[in-house]
Amino acid sequence: MDKKKLIIGNMKMYMTSGDVKEYLQKLNLKNMNEQVVFCPSSIYIPYFLGYPFQVGAQNISATTLGAYTGEISAEQLASLGVAYTIVGHSERRMYFGEINEEVHQKMKRALDHHMVPIVCIGETLEEYNAGKTLSILRTQLIDCLTGLSLEEINKTVIAYEPIWAIGTGKIPTNLEIEKIAIEIKKILQEVFQSTNVPVLYGGSVSSKNIEQLEQITSIDGYLIGSASVKTKEIEKILEVVNH
Ligand code: 13P
Repeated sequence: MDKKKLIIGNMKMYMTSGDVKEYLQKLNLKNMNEQVVFCPSSIYIPYFLGYPFQVGAQNISATTLGAYTGEISAEQLASLGVAYTIVGHSERRMYFGEINEEVHQKMKRALDHHMVPIVCIGETLEEYNAGKTLSILRTQLIDCLTGLSLEEINKTVIAYEPIWAIGTGKIPTNLEIEKIAIEIKKILQEVFQSTNVPVLYGGSVSSKNIEQLEQITSIDGYLIGSASVKTKEIEKILEVVNH
């Protein structure tokens, strides 16, 4: 029990190389460990290697090495020492047309190269208001995970990110998050016989709400966007989580 929470920073496309260098100079490594993962833009990954935290990509190619201009493959990332990759983030689904089938392919590529896929699922505000959250999550999980072996599923991480909570400062109530995390785990058990997959919460996590979120018992960590690119914010979050 009481496994350390997984804290993942999705740094999105927020930083330039100057920002990255300043960030890494300022970052206090006190609460950093193998359960902390930073996912910078891929071009900055080498800057983040060699610290006590782990490094992840924000996206990977659905294909293996080959003539695919502009793509970055799992082989390439794994050969640098990248241990995780986000797949199916709602921004990729919304702006780049990523669909569950592609998310599944990307998961396969990651797992084939011993990288942990962090699969993002979540509902829109419209779906939330219509009470469709659980059926949306169920479909996303089934479509993304079907075809993977139990061993592969047990190596993945699920991030529940309600789309309406991303970058808005609005978050579901603790009770809602608690209930949804339990339901996700139930689906994983019933459909895939898996009892071993960490479920994270993401969407407007910050130093202001982390103490409140820490009351939730069914969550295994957080996927943090804008707060992860501010050293003071991420340090405070880690301080609260590790108290
Ligand atoms: P924010 O924390 O900026 O709301 O972003 C959440 C997110 O999308 C993490 O993947």
